[in-house]
Amino acid sequence: MNIGIIGCGNISDTYFNSQKIFNNINIISCSDLKKDISDKKALEYNVKSQTVEELLKNKDIDIILNLTIPSAHKEIIIKSIENGKHCFSEKPLAINFNDGLQIQKISNEKSITIGCAPDTFLGATGQKARTLIDNNEIGKVVLGTFNIMSHGMEDWHPNPDFFFKPGAGPVFDLGVYYLTQLINLNGSINSVFATSGTASKERIITSQPRKGEKIIVETPTTLMGVLNFNNGSKIQFFCSWDVWNHTHSNIELYGLEGSMILPDPNFFSGDIKVSKKNNNWIKINNDKMLLGIPNLSDIGGSKVANYRGIGLSEMVDAITNNRQPRCSLDLALHTLEVMEGIIKSSETNKIINMTTKTEKPKILDENKIQSLKK
Ligand SMILES: NC(=O)c1ccc[n+]([C@@H]2O[C@H](COP(=O)([O-])OP(=O)(O)OC[C@H]3O[C@@H](n4cnc5c(N)ncnc54)[C@H](O)[C@@H]3O)[C@@H](O)[C@H]2O)c1
Repeated sequence: MNIGIIGCGNISDTYFNSQKIFNNINIISCSDLKKDISDKKALEYNVKSQTVEELLKNKDIDIILNLTIPSAHKEIIIKSIENGKHCFSEKPLAINFNDGLQIQKISNEKSITIGCAPDTFLGATGQKARTLIDNNEIGKVVLGTFNIMSHGMEDWHPNPDFFFKPGAGPVFDLGVYYLTQLINLNGSINSVFATSGTASKERIITSQPRKGEKIIVETPTTLMGVLNFNNGSKIQFFCSWDVWNHTHSNIELYGLEGSMILPDPNFFSGDIKVSKKNNNWIKINNDKMLLGIPNLSDIGGSKVANYRGIGLSEMVDAITNNRQPRCSLDLALHTLEVMEGIIKSSETNKIINMTTKTEKPKILDENKIQSLKK
């Protein structure tokens, strides 16, 4: 299957490079609202540069890879469907639940497959933790916490405006990794309750090339609350870009037989810690699993595992074999409803009940991953 990229910004290199990792990702063309950006990537990766309309009409393309900003996701996904092309989109699926429902309706009508990031839950840590939970290592999960705390995104991204607009903020931009991981581990969510705040109404960009420019904040930068899961468990969350420093864990799950600490689900690997009842923590390293082997150096020089593209590769395999992908529309739509519910609850001071449910995605075993790797 041939893939065409729409949106050639910051994350596009990761997807172009995923062709070197997975054997069924074949990008043949790219486009962007800004022609010079698309031309540059096309030259760098030896693909065609087209306008968005040309790319959507290109008969050689089977799948659109949507790497535009969140506010453009719905438009590009729907245009892909209208042009008879499957679409894998970066997260979030859309900036509100209603848009997500429209995507679902039209994709069902046209029998087109839609997949959506994040795919990090398919990494070594997500899959190992899922196996441990399914094997009852900590018993039934009853409680938990997740924490995302930093001081925002204006210090690294070259165009950080979208992080502070509806469809982003700490829940839509980063919470989506945590929520997807938790749904993978613990099933779907029944209701949410949240409160929110915005410590600074304006942000000053400190990254290049727009250093010194002002961003007006249009979505809350702190959201705190509780997720009630359909299995009866409750998970407390704290998502903020108003915190300079802290010592909280990313995710902690408390079961009837023990506890589990998980690393940042924005990454594919990292140690899991498990304690049986009140015994000492046992560290579980996942660096030998196929999607845990370090393959990249981070800004600090540490080796990390980054296998973004597995969700797309697995979707290509799903379409070929006439089944739904693990990074499914159902999963993305449920996660979108939860994220919108968190914002709505914080605005109304009410518990928001979910109308969607999703199954835990099937485990992605090492044999399947091996068959997708180069
Ligand atoms: N940057 C990251 O590290 C990262 C990581 C994971 C996910 N993501 C997600 O990937 C998406 C893109 O992020 P990014 O960091 O690459 O953003 P970016 O701003 O660097 O790039 C987005 C590109 O999309 C183009 N674009 C916007 N609207 C368009 C439209 N209607 N048609 C065609 N092109 C359009 C813009 O011109 C821009 O070049 C976002 O949804 C983000 O949440 C980014």
